Amino acid sequence: MIRVLGIETSCDETAASVVGLREGAAPEILSNVVLSQIEEHAAFGGVVPEIAARAHVEALDGIIEAALADADTRLADVDAVAATAGPGLVGGLIVGLMTAKAIAAASGKQLLAINHLEGHALTARLTDGLSFPYLLLLVSGGHTQIVLVRGVGDYQRWATTIDDALGEAFDKTAKMLGLAYPGGPNVEKAAAKGDPARFAFPRPMKGESRPDFSFSGLKTAVRQAATSIAPLSDQDVADICASFQSAVADALGDRVARALVRFREDYPDSEAPALVVAGGVAANRKIRSTLEELCASHGFRFVAPPHALCTDNAAMIAWAGIERLQAGLADPDAMDFVPRSRW
Ligand code: KG4
Ligand code: ZN
Repeated sequence: MIRVLGIETSCDETAASVVGLREGAAPEILSNVVLSQIEEHAAFGGVVPEIAARAHVEALDGIIEAALADADTRLADVDAVAATAGPGLVGGLIVGLMTAKAIAAASGKQLLAINHLEGHALTARLTDGLSFPYLLLLVSGGHTQIVLVRGVGDYQRWATTIDDALGEAFDKTAKMLGLAYPGGPNVEKAAAKGDPARFAFPRPMKGESRPDFSFSGLKTAVRQAATSIAPLSDQDVADICASFQSAVADALGDRVARALVRFREDYPDSEAPALVVAGGVAANRKIRSTLEELCASHGFRFVAPPHALCTDNAAMIAWAGIERLQAGLADPDAMDFVPRSRW
């Protein structure tokens, strides 16, 4: 069995995991330890890079030990160490990649410098054994992208945001309305009691031929609505949240529909086309159901890996390492790799 130790420190989760692959069998997540720093950043309404880096330094050794112990694996039995090398907050990336380099150097193991987005892109192969090609919608606090996943290391970005990431739009909306960080789950909760038709918020980019996303106009509309009513009652907040969420789902659905049509055109022979979602925002039920319906109407399989593997974790990094080893795409110069925050 190949076993890879994965390390993830690109944002505010300190994570380590061991993933194993036995010839001819499905991959196994032998351990998956994630320590969220949310509490440490909550008071600031967002991730503070310096606090994040320090927290990674303090926690990482213990998290790696826990991941090895949970997997009943000694370092000696690991075949390689894979760490997120970018993109992300540079302080955290340095902590994770340097730790991985030290472990690799001291134990004589191979090092793999993994792109965090590749981790998200390949997760559906770990959880659902998906075959290439497929479409990935990544919607997190830092990214909003539609990516064509053609193979290991073979990705084509079809759409990205021209301003805010979708998770960021949720978080900023929450902040404007006095809801706690991280905003996404709180906006969703408030929206459940609100009227989605009360505010006619814009659907940015809807119907445009350019494939990208935009959320800053929507954010401005939310701010105008919020400041036009003072003081805001709980019902006002709920109605704004519901109207915002409905605008987001509508705008997102329009962009994704375009990509599904394009995929069909590019791969007319694909028998089981699939759309995979990843990122924290994919937890949102309204967004999920919108995407599910869209996939059903376009004949696509909707693949949503378990929430814990959709948000930041190290199993996806270990798995990307295994995929690279299997594909013969491991970089022999990984020990010289310098973290790339904008990779
Ligand atoms: O993938 P993730 O855990 O971390 C990174 O950004 O890498 O995503 C976090 C983002 C935050 O912006 C959070 O507000 C958003 O995902 N989020 C949600 C929901 N749960 C988390 N947004 C909308 N609805 C949710 N239920
Ligand atoms: Zn991520």
